[in-house]
Amino acid sequence: MRVSKAGVVGAGTMGAAIAEVLALNGIPVVLKDVDRARVDAGLAKVRGYVDELVAFHEQRAPKEIERIEQLGVHLSVDQQAAVRAKLAPKFTRARGDEVVGRVTGTTDFADFAGADLVVEAVFERTEVKRNVLEALDTVLPDYAVIGSNTSSLSITRLAKGLRHARQTLVTHFFNPPTTLPLVEVAAGVDTREDVVTDTVDFLQACGTTGTPSCRSACGRRPPSS
Ligand SMILES: NC(=O)c1ccc[n+]([C@@H]2O[C@H](COP(=O)([O-])OP(=O)(O)OC[C@H]3O[C@@H](n4cnc5c(N)ncnc54)[C@H](O)[C@@H]3O)[C@@H](O)[C@H]2O)c1
Repeated sequence: MRVSKAGVVGAGTMGAAIAEVLALNGIPVVLKDVDRARVDAGLAKVRGYVDELVAFHEQRAPKEIERIEQLGVHLSVDQQAAVRAKLAPKFTRARGDEVVGRVTGTTDFADFAGADLVVEAVFERTEVKRNVLEALDTVLPDYAVIGSNTSSLSITRLAKGLRHARQTLVTHFFNPPTTLPLVEVAAGVDTREDVVTDTVDFLQACGTTGTPSCRSACGRRPPSS
């Protein structure tokens, strides 16, 4: 699956972090919430998550030097330089700025037009998620895939009767997605097999910078009675 543009609905804890993961992988992301204040809060979360990643990388070498010296080993200037070279930040401030710049906020579903993949991460309530999926169904191109970050709801029920029902599936990111790169992928009864395979392939190819690539556990989630 080629994702040139992605969307995330819900700029809360998970939505902002999922947007960050997609943007880390070079994908422009539209992040939606219900009003401008929540959108801005979500964008600030993305900035905060990225800042943490930059700080983690910047601190690796100084922390390692400190750790070694606390063991009573005095490192020469050359040895310290060697540690700094080995642990040079792979994720720099400039890269962080690029990642943040890939995420744009909106309150309008129309801005998902042309998206290849949209993940919803709104409240865990059937009627809220169903309204979101219906709105996405009208605005997304035929080929688009819709992922739901639901923890427990039936994807078969959520997607029933939608134009995109065969391209809708669970993409359940674990929290926090950048340090816990596991995504549970679960198909509904109507989900096409190739959509499941393509989504798993896409997620497994996603990296989270400094941590292993995403791992996907895959299965069919039966409709709950
Ligand atoms: N928090 C976790 O640890 C975690 C882990 C895995 C999965 N999940 C799942 O992820 C989903 C989101 O959880 P969360 O913790 O991020 O919730 P959250 O409350 O932090 O964020 C939900 C966001 O969705 C927004 N929203 C609601 N309706 C909307 C709409 N129509 N359009 C756009 N935005 C809308 C809300 O304003 C809010 O900002 C849930 O399904 C939850 O079960 C959560």
